[in-house]
Amino acid sequence: MIAVEPPLALLAELTHRCPLRCPYCSNPLELAGASAELGTAAWQRVFSEAAELGVLQVHFSGGEPLVRRDLVELVRHAAEVGLYGNLITSGIRLDAERLRALAEAGLEHVQLSLQDSEIALGDRIAGLAGAQEAKRRAASLVRQAGLPLTVNAVVHRQNLERLDEIIELAVALGADRLEVAHVQYYGWALRNRDALLPDRNQLETATAAVEAARARLAGVMTVDYVLPDYHAHRPKACMGGWGRTAMVIAPNGDVLPCQAASTIPGLELANVREHPLEWIWNESDAFARFRGTDWMQEPCRSCPLGRQEVDFGGCRCQALRLAGDAAATDPVCRFSPHHDRVVAAREPGRGDDFVYRTMKRPARV
Ligand code: SF4
Ligand code: FES
Repeated sequence: MIAVEPPLALLAELTHRCPLRCPYCSNPLELAGASAELGTAAWQRVFSEAAELGVLQVHFSGGEPLVRRDLVELVRHAAEVGLYGNLITSGIRLDAERLRALAEAGLEHVQLSLQDSEIALGDRIAGLAGAQEAKRRAASLVRQAGLPLTVNAVVHRQNLERLDEIIELAVALGADRLEVAHVQYYGWALRNRDALLPDRNQLETATAAVEAARARLAGVMTVDYVLPDYHAHRPKACMGGWGRTAMVIAPNGDVLPCQAASTIPGLELANVREHPLEWIWNESDAFARFRGTDWMQEPCRSCPLGRQEVDFGGCRCQALRLAGDAAATDPVCRFSPHHDRVVAAREPGRGDDFVYRTMKRPARV
């Protein structure tokens, strides 16, 4: 067995319930209902086990974590066991009283999603009228509460032309940090690839806009940039490498090496209802399967660039989607025998309609 360092971060998907319906949601296509969710005591035990294992940060995520009535209790427990708590939220349903209670319970950071700079267009992407106004109010509350604020703007073909305005809006909202993240094409985003995938010109313009903003806003706001895989020649180390730095816990307690791992056939997911977190991280099949480099096939096994421990062969879920084999080299890599599938997929999308995220049967709107 490979010697394993403890994970640094835990993404706690407290629920799949969410008032928004973003067409690039990173949750799986099959969403878990409220009755499947772990209860308060189970999550608190998980946070205690995570702290004992060596986890430093917990990201309270979803869905929308604010729909959990016990969120303050969960935040308080995580803080009591020494975890740095970050709330990843749409901002919908955040009010001053709730935010004060969360801050008093030990919440240390808020990450707010932003769909667009234009109210009507943002509401369309979020699939909810009034969403953008609610976000602006939420950002203001976070600043008044004195908590650090990151704005997360997911960008794609239908909002990239307003990237400069999105950056200026993040400044106006008082963000300490802006993450401009291109859509990555798994789950709901893969389903909506035709409506979301930008062309090369849009990508180059966006990259230049981010570089200019970084220079202009130095000392005012940090701007991070997540490039889209489809226009790259080398894959990213997805999740920092499988089972190396982070774990995801789904609402039902399944522990995943990444948010899409439940789609990999034959991967034996362990659940916190049945196993201690320490055993799951160190010994379970799901985490051991693609850890390290021994599982690699060619061309990764004899990589011409020696990048096996730099990118860890890329993304397993993307390899499954595009090469039909989760153990294959990520087709984003130019050495992959399936790289032509990524090149072919770079053709910009042809449609504008979204299939919105839904817990019911998806409909095209
Ligand atoms: Fe990375 Fe594998 Fe491509 Fe080498 S062959 S660059 S290890 S994905
Ligand atoms: Fe699963 Fe990249 S999303 S490994």
